Amino acid sequence: MPEKLIYTPYRVVYQKDKFEKIKKEGWCFPSTLSFLLNDSCNHKCIGCDAMDFKSNKSFPLSKIPDLIKDLKEMNCKNVEFCGGGEPTMHPDFEKIVRMFYENGFILGLITNGSLLKEKVIDNDLVKCFNWIRVSTDASEAKMHKKIHGTDDFDKIVENIRELVNVNKEKNNSKTNISLRFLLYEFNVADMIHMYNLSEELGVNAINFRSARNCSNQITPEQAEKYERFLKLLKEENSGHVSIFGTLKKSELKTKQCYLHWLWAIVTSSGDVLLCCWYQGRYKTHVVGNVFKNTLVDIYKGEAYKRAAKQLNSNKELLNMCNNYDCRYHKYNEIYEEWDREGDIILFI
Ligand SMILES: C[S@@+](CC[C@H](N)C(=O)[O-])C[C@H]1O[C@@H](n2cnc3c(N)ncnc32)[C@H](O)[C@@H]1O
Ligand code: SF4
Ligand code: SF4
Repeated sequence: MPEKLIYTPYRVVYQKDKFEKIKKEGWCFPSTLSFLLNDSCNHKCIGCDAMDFKSNKSFPLSKIPDLIKDLKEMNCKNVEFCGGGEPTMHPDFEKIVRMFYENGFILGLITNGSLLKEKVIDNDLVKCFNWIRVSTDASEAKMHKKIHGTDDFDKIVENIRELVNVNKEKNNSKTNISLRFLLYEFNVADMIHMYNLSEELGVNAINFRSARNCSNQITPEQAEKYERFLKLLKEENSGHVSIFGTLKKSELKTKQCYLHWLWAIVTSSGDVLLCCWYQGRYKTHVVGNVFKNTLVDIYKGEAYKRAAKQLNSNKELLNMCNNYDCRYHKYNEIYEEWDREGDIILFI
């Protein structure tokens, strides 16, 4: 894939064979697994979209081989460790990462960064990850505490610094390291300091997003003003850090969601979800459980097709797609364009 495409929604064009299958048969196997390894977390973020689901559950190590077998059967090669809670807190995190790595999966990690040293760097796991994204959200300790509720900002910064060094010294800089800044009404003005911190730490990229479906969200006026600032920052960027993201609210503009099939979600309790944005509609989003059936059978089965049909025929459920800036909003538009035009026109 050309590098230009990697950070745009048009990267989905590489899934055209899956588009064909969805069009013909109404379903396809996933390309990526988002693995919500465990529900517990050592932080208490004010806007955490997973806060209602914290239960101290961890996905059992003994069930990992079955999951790996299924993913191989489905040719699903990408696995991102996410949460639920904080994935590095899983008691068997190291073993699980190694099992996936040794089986040839392309791995990503989304973390709050607090345990990067103990769980990733000291266990020599950096090389196992294709990318690591740290949810930093602030450029200094006071703001970080206000958002994350903890006193570990300085430790996280030192962890990121060491991660970048280890990646350079021992890993030929093969792991892409990025920082995520989730913006609220009270930290949006700090974007320039967030950029400076990223430059100082030497990460590969920073990514700005608006916190959604929570209190203290940025106002429409702030969104407009700081979107202009972000555009300028991107245009004038002469540093080493790539800048991504937008503060614009994204919306589902297509008649339905066609592509959720591409992205499997497995939770710590084995539930398989229709997509990552299950908040407020968990019951209708569950399509099976990997402790009862294989992921392959769940994907091929009737329960998943029924849940997809229910979502796409129910306005209230579909409206909830607009609670977050789902990247599939744009993917679905690209799918409709492909379906209408018989191809996809690239504007880049
Ligand atoms: C739920 S966290 C789990 C992984 C890890 N604990 C972390 O914080 O990176 C996964 C991602 O969800 C994002 N997130 C959490 N609450 C959000 C919200 N209200 N709106 C948008 N994104 C949110 C965070 O920025 C984070 O990158
Ligand atoms: S660190 Fe992640 S999982 Fe933990 S509270 Fe914050 S957003 Fe939620
Ligand atoms: S939030 Fe909606 S559009 Fe996004 S993946 Fe889920 S169902 Fe599809």
